[in-house]
Amino acid sequence: MSDQKNIGDLIQERFDRRRLLGDLFKAIPVAALMGSQAEAQELPAMAPEMVKAAGPVPREAPKDSRLGFESIGASKDDAISVPPGHGVSVVIKWGDPLFANSPAFSPLNQSGAAQATQFGYNNDWLDFFSLPSPEVSNPASGLLAVNHEYTNPELMFRNWTLAGQTREQTDIELNAHGLTVVEVARDRTGDWNYIAGARLNRRITAFTPMDITGPAAGSELLRTSVDPTGRRVMGTLNNCSGGKTPWGTVLSGEENFHQYFANFSAVPAGPSRANNALYGMPNTTGSYPWNRHYDRFDMAKEPNESFRFGWVVEFDPYDVNSVPKKRTALGRFRHEACTIQIAPDGRIVAYSGDDERFQFAYKFISNGRYNPFDRAANFDLLDDGTLYVAKFNADGTGEWLPMIQGRGPLTAANGFPDQATVLINSRGAAARLGATPMDRPEDMEVNPVNGKVYLALTNNTSRTDRDIDKANPRSNNRFGHIIELTEDNGDHSALRFFWEIFILCGDGKNRAHGTFFAGYDPSQVSALANPDNIAFDSKGNLWIATDGQPNTLGINDGIYAVATDGTERGNVKQLFSGVVGAEAASLVFNPDDSALFITIQHPGEGGRWTDNPADLTSRFPDGAAPNKPAVVAIRKVSGNPVVGS
Ligand code: FEO
Ligand code: CA
Ligand code: CA
Ligand code: CA
Repeated sequence: MSDQKNIGDLIQERFDRRRLLGDLFKAIPVAALMGSQAEAQELPAMAPEMVKAAGPVPREAPKDSRLGFESIGASKDDAISVPPGHGVSVVIKWGDPLFANSPAFSPLNQSGAAQATQFGYNNDWLDFFSLPSPEVSNPASGLLAVNHEYTNPELMFRNWTLAGQTREQTDIELNAHGLTVVEVARDRTGDWNYIAGARLNRRITAFTPMDITGPAAGSELLRTSVDPTGRRVMGTLNNCSGGKTPWGTVLSGEENFHQYFANFSAVPAGPSRANNALYGMPNTTGSYPWNRHYDRFDMAKEPNESFRFGWVVEFDPYDVNSVPKKRTALGRFRHEACTIQIAPDGRIVAYSGDDERFQFAYKFISNGRYNPFDRAANFDLLDDGTLYVAKFNADGTGEWLPMIQGRGPLTAANGFPDQATVLINSRGAAARLGATPMDRPEDMEVNPVNGKVYLALTNNTSRTDRDIDKANPRSNNRFGHIIELTEDNGDHSALRFFWEIFILCGDGKNRAHGTFFAGYDPSQVSALANPDNIAFDSKGNLWIATDGQPNTLGINDGIYAVATDGTERGNVKQLFSGVVGAEAASLVFNPDDSALFITIQHPGEGGRWTDNPADLTSRFPDGAAPNKPAVVAIRKVSGNPVVGS
């Protein structure tokens, strides 16, 4: 195993190098690092102490997990709430111009062309990429990579009707999907602003050409009349959650792609039909009428286009010309996050959930190893490896089952003639293997302090007493739960694991909810339901964004934190409450935890933008119609880290 040791040493050396780079970075005046661009934007110069050295989080994380704030009360107001001593500001919102030539947002005069140059709709996952390069950890300026999951035409267009949807509206919606990369910086007052016209600003939309890579690339199932190669696809859709690689690229999960398609009932029997049978494709119309304007969304005309969605997309945010790649080795399902770990031997492990009732949790292990010295050498690691799916045993153990064509039930006779089909129809393959159907697997994240994996399960009201199991122990699971998973020997490439329930969500004061908060007194914690995206701060506290509390607890969705170790383990506290109709969709800390970025998604959902002001249920963030999804930044007025005293 000396080879493994060597890789471990290499990784350590890489971190030492990063630390050294950080020290060098500290010595350079920040204005110089920002270059002419900062001058062009007239950004105030930042104090050098705002730029501090990077380090490997697991080795340097402080063990003090005190949250340092008192829980706020739940809210139903159309206003953000945070604890005393904290401030909130809007960093960027739907329609904000990104480029020097972007038109100002004009809600009554929108166009697809304008939207392609402006911040998109329904921001979901976001992450922070330090500037000027991924080699450093700079808390004062960086790139935000942001997913735009879906569109709400009834809130985007005044007096919109489904029957009357125009081609221009369809184009606006297609261009409001995808991702944004935008430079952000902290100013002298501590506020965070985005920088219009910055060099690395980028929009990726449902029209952006991207490559299909990995074992399924070129499969007959991926071929369409526009792309007979099965290797080139236009755009990405329903980018829900995502992740960041150690080499500084973006991973974006395509989730509910099925809803953009129509007329599955017209697809004849055969592989195109069989391999979509478990994917909920709309038999007639979907949620969007895009098939009226684009044949690729009409399955009667293009039965294979939907196979080109449901993947994890990777691209380099530090290169505006990088071509995004759909990594088929990671499987096709309603991808939530994609969370990367480096195994002790240098192989890459990617965790991802499939967000649907009774679907599965997956992980991918690369064949190749991380090269800490050559960034570009890692760019295609996610194209070659093995996909596994989780089986949770009743005794608290679990197994990762390999999804390899020809092994076990994954045979041609069972509908899996090649590995491409195993990946394209991951759901079918995982079910054949006997994986454990879960209560909507959303985000999976790894605690930087204890190395454990946390799996958020949003809800499953379809689970009955007949099909409960130890890992999904509640029938009619309205509130969701969180599982804590420990890989064998703490090795993320292990094929066996141990698991336990960390939290059974609900209102701990209501015994009928059947809650469990890691053994903490349930009457003392904040009510919490429907965990969706999760994140960790550098101290190992778990942060939870919720999706669905208006329907389950009758309160706005929010952001919660909980210690995972020590006497406070399980003591959930609420930091943030969002606005009416909105999901507090995702969150990320900057490198020194002094800012917490949160995405406010679908404010006012359930209402409509019409001539009648009463139809609008939220006026976030401008106090006027239309309401707008936005990224907000939370910080302490003192400038201290958001977490801790
Ligand atoms: Fe887009 Fe499963 O949340
Ligand atoms: Ca999600
Ligand atoms: Ca996350
Ligand atoms: Ca969600």
